[in-house]
Amino acid sequence: AYRADDDYDYLFKVVLIGDSGVGKSNLLSRFTKNEFSLESKSTIGVEFATRSIRVDDKIVKAQIWDTAGQERATNCDGMVGCCVWIVGLDWLVGIKASTLIVVRYRAITSAYYRGAVGALLVYDVTRHVTFENVERWLKELRDHTDSNIVIMLVGNKADLRHLRAVSTEDAKAFAERESTFFMETSALESMNVENSFTEVLTQIY
Ligand code: GTP
Ligand code: MG
Repeated sequence: AYRADDDYDYLFKVVLIGDSGVGKSNLLSRFTKNEFSLESKSTIGVEFATRSIRVDDKIVKAQIWDTAGQERATNCDGMVGCCVWIVGLDWLVGIKASTLIVVRYRAITSAYYRGAVGALLVYDVTRHVTFENVERWLKELRDHTDSNIVIMLVGNKADLRHLRAVSTEDAKAFAERESTFFMETSALESMNVENSFTEVLTQIY
């Protein structure tokens, strides 16, 4: 049967989280546009992209949210894109700039996670500290979302074999302990990118 391009049965919000530079934006652009950039800049504010996939006979539309992995309070200081985004929330319109500084961390965090039913928690297999920080991201995620959110732990940059600093076994064990799904990916080589997103969407569905 004919279906319009923008027709879908389910709309799922999925968030990307993890330290700065682990490859969140490139995973997103690989999944939604089949694009990769070696010189991508750190994300400013919040970006979205969508892609629809078919699960059984249903069309599932993923609305994927991406933001910078740096501490958002500091990341936003002086950054116009971020402020514009916050001011766009009607309940904040009219509050003067000095007040915004105080509220913006909380505002972004809760708005970012609100309604999310899936999450890709990304670390970089070549930088161990990004794996250590997974615990903090997981806590923030669980503090701000529904308990049955589907979480995929993603070890990205698996193409950099000679630089690996986090073993597959350690990450797998962590994921099992925390009851999350787990996959290693490469946005560069298109390895498991499709699989990690579609697994999350299928599990939500
Ligand atoms: P923030 O927006 O600052 O939070 O960073 P991010 O997590 O969005 O990282 P981004 O996608 O901007 O990627 C950071 C750097 O890692 C870029 O230079 C990318 O080209 C590189 N990169 C991303 N994914 C891969 C990958 O799978 N393999 C390799 N070798 N490099 C990657
Ligand atoms: Mg980014």
